[in-house]
Amino acid sequence: MLKIKKDLFIGIDLGTSYTKIYLKEVGIVTELPTVIALNKRNRTTVAIGEEAKRMIGRNPANIDVVRPVIRGVITHFDEALLFLESILDNFKSEYWPIFGSRLVIGIPLDITEVQKKGVIDVGLSSGAREVFLIEEPMAAALGANLDVEQAKGVLIVDIGGGTTDIALISLGGIVLGKSIRIGGDTFNEKIIDYLRLKYGIIIGEGQANEAKVQISTILNKAGSFLIKGRDILTGLPKELNFTSQDLRESILDNLLEISTVVKDIINLAPPDLLGDISSSGIYLSGGGSLISGIDEFLAKETKMRINLVEEPRYAVIRGIGKVIEDFNNFKKLIINV
Ligand SMILES: Nc1ncnc2c1ncn2[C@@H]1O[C@H](COP(=O)(O)OP(=O)(O)OP(=O)(O)O)[C@@H](O)[C@H]1O
Ligand SMILES: [Mg+2]
Repeated sequence: MLKIKKDLFIGIDLGTSYTKIYLKEVGIVTELPTVIALNKRNRTTVAIGEEAKRMIGRNPANIDVVRPVIRGVITHFDEALLFLESILDNFKSEYWPIFGSRLVIGIPLDITEVQKKGVIDVGLSSGAREVFLIEEPMAAALGANLDVEQAKGVLIVDIGGGTTDIALISLGGIVLGKSIRIGGDTFNEKIIDYLRLKYGIIIGEGQANEAKVQISTILNKAGSFLIKGRDILTGLPKELNFTSQDLRESILDNLLEISTVVKDIINLAPPDLLGDISSSGIYLSGGGSLISGIDEFLAKETKMRINLVEEPRYAVIRGIGKVIEDFNNFKKLIINV
């Protein structure tokens, strides 16, 4: 039966890898890969999320599998809209919003006005009455229960799938910030390159991701992962034990790029805010921060304490949730009102 909801207020973290959805007074309701499969001829939706992701590399000629968000930014508008519509249709069949629906959507730092307008257009075209934007690191800090409104500096590094957003926050605003195109997905690319160059073995993205996640989980930090790939010379199957040392070596460039930008922000920080960061340390969120050893690496590079936030992949959507639950209070963090 349809539940009447005067005001359907929905939070969306449209991530490069995963989309997370928050519903007012309910909580985080769903999480799914940001992937859509379409019928090539009439562009109708065949599948979204996990089911669509499984089709990557296995799709027949009449089906297109698209990742609508690349490096944190909507790059395929029609597909992003169909993706969002499919998700929202589920809620609309459950709830009957008398006054229509409102959306709060997270966006990375450093996106252009045109890209912001694109996000708003996708939200409005999906049937929402109003669309509000919040910067992802601000949402992540809020989701990590940090006080973003006091006169005290908070340095947060959100390492997602496609982007790393680094922000120095104080008094509810971003004092300094930068977004770089590095994240968990570029770590996967680095692992693929490393294995090809060092061991002459070719693997796909799925295996690279699995090796990374397996080695990064607490139980297996010192261990290894059996890679099953193809020998670059013979073209035949080849196996290899991928170790935590291999993982570190393969992504070292990416980690150095992240730490360089973090250090740039620290260097530019006004003295009082720098004092705040020195005493509380740097906060890490996003799925990419689950990679093994990143906290020790950044601590060594920046000479600062590193705090991993709880359930880092959900920091942004938890923050968006807080905004939705107490909108009058947190409205000032919305950047397009
Ligand atoms: N246990 C783990 N160890 C290492 N990496 C992990 C782990 N779990 C998830 N990841 C990586 O985290 C990334 C996804 O993180 P997250 O959900 O924060 O990204 P996103 O919000 O989709 O991307 P973005 O914010 O860049 O648009 C993926 O690259 C995934 O491989
Ligand atoms: Mg994210």
